[in-house]
Amino acid sequence: MDKKIVFSGVQPSGDLTIGNYIGAIKEFKKLQEEYNCIFSVVDMHSITVPQIPKNLRQRTYEILATYIASGIDPEKSVLFVQSHVPAHAELSWVLSTISYMGQLSRMTQYKEKSQRSDENLNAGLFTYPVLMAADILLYQTDLVPVGEDQRQHLELARDLAERFNYRYSPTFVVPKGLIPKETGKIYSLKEPNKKMSKSDEDLNASILLKDDRDTIIRKIRKAVTDSKAEFRYCEEQKGLQNLINIHSAFSGESVEDIVGHYKNSPYSAFKEDLGFLVADALDPFRHRFDDLMKNKKELDEIMKTGADKASYLAHKTLRKVYRKIGFVQPK
Ligand code: TYM
Repeated sequence: MDKKIVFSGVQPSGDLTIGNYIGAIKEFKKLQEEYNCIFSVVDMHSITVPQIPKNLRQRTYEILATYIASGIDPEKSVLFVQSHVPAHAELSWVLSTISYMGQLSRMTQYKEKSQRSDENLNAGLFTYPVLMAADILLYQTDLVPVGEDQRQHLELARDLAERFNYRYSPTFVVPKGLIPKETGKIYSLKEPNKKMSKSDEDLNASILLKDDRDTIIRKIRKAVTDSKAEFRYCEEQKGLQNLINIHSAFSGESVEDIVGHYKNSPYSAFKEDLGFLVADALDPFRHRFDDLMKNKKELDEIMKTGADKASYLAHKTLRKVYRKIGFVQPK
């Protein structure tokens, strides 16, 4: 029986945080053992907000290196850069003609981003979820591992697949999300009601995958908790709850075990242990990442092989779509 297909993507729009890692990338490694996995560096998404070209180029390599340093094996999974496969833009156009303005304008991320960036309220920000749907549907994807913040976009991809299938005939697999329960949303260390984000200006709010040991330990020491001095896992103690989730993601221990272990300790002792836990866990990653970034030629080759494999798969779907909508095939 054919293996199921997994697709996910990460934008090269900033330095990755442990939120990206825990919510998405950490899961990718496990999935490649069981499924046919395709992971993309979605550079076309990232230009919906202004990027400095030099940084975008560098970050594109960095995301690819991050995938590999996190244990994704380019021999097992397809790793590629979105703009190397033009079929993404092509299918996105077709899907935009069956997307409703009303539904797109209700996307939470669009609403938030458009409030923040009125000088750059470009059409790409609005149609971004359609491009994301194209990414997913091109590969006949069954499963999409993402963080909680992508749930609504995923729902749109499902709607568009169903709409197209209904209007023409079954063409796309309707994908399902794989969103981790407790760790699908990691919060800011400074404002625990806000998502930890690679674009946060407060450098102490996020732990970057690139941070060195001392920085990680210091940031966790300074993370906001509360004045209750009671070690509990609950919504009212969001800061602490978030740190417990981070602990659980890196140690593999259950929330109950962590709470049991620290219930008579001050927060500071827990934070000290957590700092070392995260620093130790990310050490091997950082070394591997640094090595990979020294050899861009190797990364170029991986990108090239990945783009060839992805193009082949994407074209199969795109040809089918063009045929069904009535485009004449070139002879
Ligand atoms: P991006 O680049 O913002 O984030 C990459 C992945 O990290 C997850 N994530 C988080 N998870 C938990 N806690 C957080 N604080 C946190 N912050 C980010 C995101 O949910 C995501 O899984 N639109 C996507 C990229 C994309 C994509 C796709 C994903 C484009 N096409 C097709 C899947 C399939 C995005 O902006 O992710």
